[in-house]
Amino acid sequence: MLIAFGVDELIVHPTVGGISLIKFLLFLMWIIHFPFIAMAIGGTLFSLLFAFMDKTHPKGPLKNSPFQRFSKDTITTLTFHPSTTFLLGILPLLTIILFMQQLLVGTPLADYSSLLGKMDFGFSSWGLLIPKGAYSWWLSVVLVIGGFLFLHIYKHKFISQKEIHPIHFLLGFTALGLLLLGYFTLTANLSFVLYPTMWNLVDNPLILLFGSNMLTQFGLFLNTALLIAAAATLYLLCSKPAENEEEKHYQRFVKISTLVITLVFTFANAAATTLNLLVIEEAATSSAVIVWHGILLVLGLLLAITSVTSLFDLSHVKHKSILVLTIATFLAMLLNLESMQANSLTEHLASLYTTAKKHQPHGPSLAPDPKIGKKLYQQNCKTCHTIDGTKGAGPSFLNIWHRTSTVIIAGKEKQITVDENYIKESLMSPKAAVVKNFAPIMPSFAKKLSEQDILHLIAYLKTLKK
Ligand code: HEC
Repeated sequence: MLIAFGVDELIVHPTVGGISLIKFLLFLMWIIHFPFIAMAIGGTLFSLLFAFMDKTHPKGPLKNSPFQRFSKDTITTLTFHPSTTFLLGILPLLTIILFMQQLLVGTPLADYSSLLGKMDFGFSSWGLLIPKGAYSWWLSVVLVIGGFLFLHIYKHKFISQKEIHPIHFLLGFTALGLLLLGYFTLTANLSFVLYPTMWNLVDNPLILLFGSNMLTQFGLFLNTALLIAAAATLYLLCSKPAENEEEKHYQRFVKISTLVITLVFTFANAAATTLNLLVIEEAATSSAVIVWHGILLVLGLLLAITSVTSLFDLSHVKHKSILVLTIATFLAMLLNLESMQANSLTEHLASLYTTAKKHQPHGPSLAPDPKIGKKLYQQNCKTCHTIDGTKGAGPSFLNIWHRTSTVIIAGKEKQITVDENYIKESLMSPKAAVVKNFAPIMPSFAKKLSEQDILHLIAYLKTLKK
């Protein structure tokens, strides 16, 4: 019951300490997983690209072509034995997903399928076929496993045959496509984590697709992966001095190719970093996040300068500096993601408390806490109720406690005082009493909020006075 384990069970208690522990473990897993996957994706892409350039070379496929040799070298040096793939590629990925689901227990994101269900694809009627679980997370694992399967067949074909056949391209493209799709699904899920204020309101995941920063996150992921792959290729193929003329010639070719690739993806990364900063949601930003984005841009600049100076002086290419700078870029990207998630997950702590309560009904009960109430307000009410006195879709919450409202009950106007019972009733059956001059559009929170949540919310509403 791996799936149920990840989604339903709260194994680590949702305290600040528990969350820090999961985050630390997640960080470790990424350190192991990312460089490996970067080389696999980069190796396949470079190999395909140069095989293609070899085929379409204006002078026809060359004899002893450096393109073909580079194509073969990248796929053989950047990818590993299937057992290593399992250890560094599949296992850490599974662990990352389980950890993420521990962080997301009790949110709509843990069971993303519930969002898909709302789109009326008829998923629910397949109930027996599709396990109830977070299958958009698991989908990425399936895609990645498929990708590695094709990658190994592609590599095997390369080693066993001299000529490059169309079937080669087909295998390579399938491998690359599956890997990219798998990591796109994963980064999409990861970027939704940064949108806590939308979790409860979104009925349609397509809104998240275009409303979140998942494209820029994927840009950061992919560019960093290709930078690592290019730096590793340069380092592995050119750090030993060439023994003869032919080798020298080939190394020159490798240096130019990898430096140009590095330059292209350094610029692409700078663009993704800038765009990400522009689209990232307020809940995920903090000064640390802005500093991390700045560090990424500075590292990009250093990388661009080092690659350009190396291109102008090919006999003194700075392989080591380039490798170190790409690794620093990777670490900065990871820490950046961690701090963004930390911010949005703090917002999410409030709902985790409630989930913990559900799992441990007899545990200590939390005193009504306006801070948790504020988070609940931001997640559930903010879109319609302001706290500064301005009118939204619903009345403002400023000075709401004990004020007199004119409401319509069964067609008749009535004056009531806002107290605990009235607020509870507004949340459970909002249509029973509708505030005069407002449309009856407030949804019922009977299923979304617990008794305890409502007490937190009321504690918060009491503080909104001027
Ligand atoms: C989709 C918009 C929407 C959301 C989301 C929403 N409300 Fe409302 N709310 C309204 C509207 C419109 C009214 C006025 C009409 C009515 O009473 O139904 C209202 C009225 C109320 C009232 C009565 C106010 C008064 O002055 O008498 C309370 C209390 C209230 N909402 C609390 C909440 C809380 C707490 C949340 C979040 C957990 C929330 N609402 C979320 C739209 C919303």
